[in-house]
Order: sequence, then C-alpha cells, then structure tokens
Amino acid sequence: MQATCRKATIDDVDILHDLIQGYAQQGIMLPRSREVLARQIDTFVVAELGDDVVGCGSLTRLGIDLVEIRSLGITDGYKGCGIGSKLVDCLIEQAKEQHIPKIMALTYAVGFFERNGFTVVDKEIFPEKVWKDCIHCPKQHACDEIAVLKMLN
Ligand SMILES: CC(C)(COP(=O)(O)OP(=O)(O)OC[C@H]1O[C@@H](n2cnc3c(N)ncnc32)[C@H](O)[C@@H]1OP(=O)(O)O)[C@@H](O)C(=O)NCCC(=O)NCCS
Repeated sequence: MQATCRKATIDDVDILHDLIQGYAQQGIMLPRSREVLARQIDTFVVAELGDDVVGCGSLTRLGIDLVEIRSLGITDGYKGCGIGSKLVDCLIEQAKEQHIPKIMALTYAVGFFERNGFTVVDKEIFPEKVWKDCIHCPKQHACDEIAVLKMLN
C-alpha cells in the first residue's frame, strides 16, 4: 500500500504527540506538548497508510528566505519504505508554494537528507535558528546535530 501525505488536523494531535515523544525520549527530537502541537498544527504534515498515521514532519519559518524541517519521524516498522522521503517532498512543496528558497534541518540522519538532495553545511550560517529555538534546547551548548541545507531555486 502507498503512503499518502496530507496536512495535519487537530484530530492528529494525540498521535503526533506520541510519535514525537517516543523520539524525544531517545534524545533525537525536541519534545512538543499537546498544547504546542495544537497551536502549531498548521505547520505539520502527516503520512497515512490506510487509516493509520505512520509519520509526521513540520516546517518552521526561520527567516525571510529560510524554513526548517522539524519533528520528522516515522513509526517504527514503517521505516525504509520511502515514507520519510515523501514527507520531505511534501514539506519542500509547501516551502516552494510560499516562495521560500532555502530549506534546512538539524539532524543525526545525515545520509537520509543527502539522499533527498540536501548538503551538509556549517551551522554558523544560520544565526536565526540559534536565536529562535536553540535557547530552549538542553543541548544548546553542546549541539552535536548536523546542519543540512537544500536550495529550492
Ligand atoms: C530519518 C527518517 C525520518 C527516515 O525516514 P524513512 O521513511 O525511514 O526514510 P526513506 O525510506 O524515505 O529513506 C530511506 C533511506 O534513508 C536512509 N536513512 C534512513 N534513516 C537514516 C539515518 N538515521 N541516518 C542515515 N540514513 C538514514 C536509509 O539508509 C535509506 O537509504 P537506502 O535506500 O540507501 O537504504 C526515519 O528513519 C526516522 O523517523 N528516524 C528517527 C527520527 C529522526 O531521526 N528524524 C530526523 C530528524 S530531523
């Protein structure tokens, strides 16, 4: 069965919360409360297989020409089937619709993003990111995530 991607709705908050919380507990994603998810639901997309949500991702505006992919995760058991790549394509389409030329992520899954056309870059080129969200991250002074960037022009 082929996964499909759609914009998340308020009915997806619980499943998004569980998916993100699982990865937050492993230290590979920032946690998001249900309240935050509900407030930011318009920034999320989900992947569905039949009636089941099996993945999610979100897009955060970091500046006039830059967005960040966040909270990208696939349910265990459904990885390696192209669903993560499909979600990235969906988020890229949204960035293009908003005429935003640069899309980035901070990640440990470098190979995955490289396969999707991203290039590893120096984190220092993203000052907006540091000020907007990293101040809330427990790893802010010892961040070991890798920055990846894709130009959409
Ligand atoms: C990373 C993730 C989103 C990829 O989704 P997916 O649906 O498994 O990926 P796809 O099937 O579209 O692509 C698979 C390819 O990416 C590569 N890949 C997947 N996860 C990877 C990782 N953690 N590191 C490096 N490469 C990875 C696979 O090796 C595979 O390449 P191959 O086809 O040459 O074997 C998913 O594994 C996941 O949820 N990981 C945990 C959360 C996470 O790390 N999210 C990223 C935060 S920005």
